Amino acid sequence: MPIEIVTTVSQMHKISSSLKRAGKKIGFVPTMGFLHQGHLSLIRKSKEFCDVTVVSVFVNPSQFAPNEDFAAYPRDFERDKELLISEGVDFVFIPSEREIYPHSFQTYVTVEEITSKLEGEFRPTHFRGVTTVVTILFNCVKPDYAFFGQKDAQQAEVIKQMVSDLKFDIKVIVCPIVREPDGLALSSRNIYFSPEERKSALVLYKALKYAEKMIEGLERDSRTVIDIMKCIISEEKNVKIDYIKIVNAEGFREDEFIEQGNIYYILIAARIGKTRLIDNSKIFLKP
Ligand code: PAJ
Repeated sequence: MPIEIVTTVSQMHKISSSLKRAGKKIGFVPTMGFLHQGHLSLIRKSKEFCDVTVVSVFVNPSQFAPNEDFAAYPRDFERDKELLISEGVDFVFIPSEREIYPHSFQTYVTVEEITSKLEGEFRPTHFRGVTTVVTILFNCVKPDYAFFGQKDAQQAEVIKQMVSDLKFDIKVIVCPIVREPDGLALSSRNIYFSPEERKSALVLYKALKYAEKMIEGLERDSRTVIDIMKCIISEEKNVKIDYIKIVNAEGFREDEFIEQGNIYYILIAARIGKTRLIDNSKIFLKP
């Protein structure tokens, strides 16, 4: 079946309702486009789990603060379309800004506690934009499954919290981080890097790997691990750390000590030149 490009909410509603009536399991991958292998890994997972896969391409203005890169965010729908066709995606939902946010728009979805820390501290309006647009997209696409990347680990957790609190009948699947062969996590923003910045960016992965080794080697004090990571990163002079945190995957609370039997995220956010990067590593210590 050729890909169908859907641009309006009413068209999307009709399609998803008729798919539901036909008993199809709908898989949904929300994106902001400029697709890379990370996005494609989510699409492949959806195709594995579901009868029909819908991908949205929408650079969501409400999740960018006025000083952020909304206008400069890379866009290339022709290229995205070719990739989506070659992945065998059934529908691409690419609404205009006004279709999602008409002039009369005035409703926002806010998840509280978990959005106040980490990314939320540095981007205080970001998650409200994400949860609002994801709710709108869920209402348009009516998915059974929705696929998110661990690359944005806090975002995935916020979405899970929202789905649980608002009783969406949707299963959220979180897929592993896809990296370049040298370890840099794929991101649409990587194209902003100069060759020199691209090289410096690798230090985040290097610090994460070192932290994993320390923890595997029985270091249990979060502070010690974080201090060594800061030391590794400080060798790259043009990398400015926003935060490095080790959090319990349950609730994203900071734990002073890393305990067996729990799942943790080591989370980094840093700025390199004008580009802000996030990366993380998930660790599970067998009891
Ligand atoms: P975007 O940055 O385009 O990412 C879309 C999805 O791809 C997210 O779930 C993200 O975590 C995942 N992703 C990005 N890079 C990845 C990588 N290297 N490996 C695996 N998955 C990766 O995240 C957003 O868009 C927006 O906030 C959105 C959810 C679409 C709401 O506007």
